[in-house]
Amino acid sequence: MAGIGTASGLWPLIKSMNPSAEVLAASAVEVNLSGIQEGHGVKVKWQGKPVFIRRRTKQEIEAARTVDVQNLRDPQSDEQRVREGKDEWLIMIGICTHLGCVPVDHATRDGNGWFCPCHGSYYDTSGRVIGGPAPKNMAVPDYFFPSENVVVIGKKA
Ligand code: FES
Repeated sequence: MAGIGTASGLWPLIKSMNPSAEVLAASAVEVNLSGIQEGHGVKVKWQGKPVFIRRRTKQEIEAARTVDVQNLRDPQSDEQRVREGKDEWLIMIGICTHLGCVPVDHATRDGNGWFCPCHGSYYDTSGRVIGGPAPKNMAVPDYFFPSENVVVIGKKA
């Protein structure tokens, strides 16, 4: 009996821990992509963090896909870092995984990728660490495309 009482007492608590659609919507940010030209990007704020949205060129995608993934510090294929087959859109949290600075776009030796000026970490055109002290790739947040030119950063409600 005590077990049943405990279990039924737990249900409202567990239920309250599942975020409602309103909470999910409030924690998401919608971005219109139509004004972003190939080779350019924007920075938006999501949950207090900078998020980089970059419309990659064919060359940038190709460069990201010809890398030997096993030789990367944080092995991850470019395909794992994009969603819904939209390879041109690279969307990631713009925080260096070393100590949390915001890396600079188009600032690597070859003019692509990102460079963190704080201690010299480099990230490729997929946001994967390729040099410097950063231990991990820049993180990819949850996101989805509700229509062709719109992305929502956050979980789907
Ligand atoms: S915080 Fe980016 S390299 Fe140290």
